[in-house]
Amino acid sequence: MCVPLTVQGLAPAPVFEMFPRIRIVVLYAVSVTLIAFFMHIRKETKLAVSPRARKIEVPNSRRTFWTTERTEPSKCLPDLTIANSSLALPELHRTFLMYKHCRNFSTLLKPTPCSEDTFLLLAIKSPPINIDRRVAIRNTWGKEVAIGSKPIKLVFLLGRSEVKVQAHSLHQLLAYESQEFDDIVQWDFTDNFFNLTLKELHFLRWFTVECPHASFVLKGDDDVFVNIYNIIEFLKELNPGEDLFVGDVISRARPIRNTKIKYFIPESMYKAPYYPLYAGGGGYVMSRTTVQQLQSTAEDTELFPIDDVFVGMCLAKLDMIPLNHAGFKTFGIQRPFNPFDPCLYKELMIVHKLNPTEMWIMWTLVKDDNIRCAVSVTPFQWGKVLQ
Ligand SMILES: *[C@@H]1O[C@H](CO)[C@@H](O)[C@H](O)[C@H]1NC(C)=O
Ligand SMILES: *[C@@H]1O[C@H](CO)[C@@H](O)[C@H](O)[C@H]1NC(C)=O
Ligand SMILES: *[C@@H]1O[C@H](CO)[C@@H](O)[C@H](O)[C@H]1NC(C)=O
Repeated sequence: MCVPLTVQGLAPAPVFEMFPRIRIVVLYAVSVTLIAFFMHIRKETKLAVSPRARKIEVPNSRRTFWTTERTEPSKCLPDLTIANSSLALPELHRTFLMYKHCRNFSTLLKPTPCSEDTFLLLAIKSPPINIDRRVAIRNTWGKEVAIGSKPIKLVFLLGRSEVKVQAHSLHQLLAYESQEFDDIVQWDFTDNFFNLTLKELHFLRWFTVECPHASFVLKGDDDVFVNIYNIIEFLKELNPGEDLFVGDVISRARPIRNTKIKYFIPESMYKAPYYPLYAGGGGYVMSRTTVQQLQSTAEDTELFPIDDVFVGMCLAKLDMIPLNHAGFKTFGIQRPFNPFDPCLYKELMIVHKLNPTEMWIMWTLVKDDNIRCAVSVTPFQWGKVLQ
């Protein structure tokens, strides 16, 4: 049984009163995030060549990322014959269909390739504007460069900003961010929900060229908390040469036929009553072999607007069954949850939909050896496979 840190039903303020140390930790975390963000902006405007504030692995050959000349988007013309036949569909769906054949976009920014001994690659989808989330990840669960003897690499996967007015200044900012942290991969397509499949495809290609030796990949969103220690513990005895795909697996999910919902898919785009088994795109883990197979399969698969379903379609083609693991909470954890409950973390791999403050709280608690959950630690169990 867990010994709860807080009394059920208390509002957050009394929790702070009861645990002044936690309050200090939270305040500290928030201030650091803000300072980091403002320093970032200030440095950007001054373009000063100042010494790096953070200690990170400095690649020995620094590259120049000032790619300001390349501001014209890649050329791929819409297929207008589809425009007339899809008039009844929402605008986004029509756009998707008209551009579905456009699958090759150039790379705008990329980091130093993975070293050959990379054990785990953390590949995090992040829209360009989400600087605050990237700052939080770099300073919390994404900051370990190795655990035990297992090297870890973090990269963020970005497209182009969807908002036209921001495009130029944001691109400058990203070039700077890329130079400073060497963890940005950016491609030349619009970063929006319906283009996430393009991001998936381009990530798989990037992996096979720039990171082919990494043993495992964790792919996730920029609003997840990853218990990196549990992930490494889980993976360390596994063989990267064997199939592995594990996450929050959903079975017999029905395509949504209601046009008002974000995930609406008309029958003309997907006829079957159910989607194949797929893992929530918030975060899942794969072996090197599985990533390579996914890449070659994805090349021969038509794009589908929902990226995690698209991956499920590729897995189905490969006859591979994604494994469900209870520690992956990508379809949300039951709210309201208590982020201060230390027992929350013991079996946890990934939690979805957190803001940077919640990420800081979780990280401080995961790191804090004095806060103990009375539950006996049996963190790594294979979940049941859903059929
Ligand atoms: C689409 O329909 C419009 C009006 O009916 C027509 O003028 C146009 O030629 C059509 N375009 C294509 C590509 O079929
Ligand atoms: C994309 O590139 C691949 C290989 O480089 C090529 O076979 C394919 O035709 C290209 N597709 C488009 C739409 O340009
Ligand atoms: C995906 O990105 C391409 C290239 O920027 C763009 O032409 C297309 O409209 C985008 N697709 C959607 C559905 O927005």
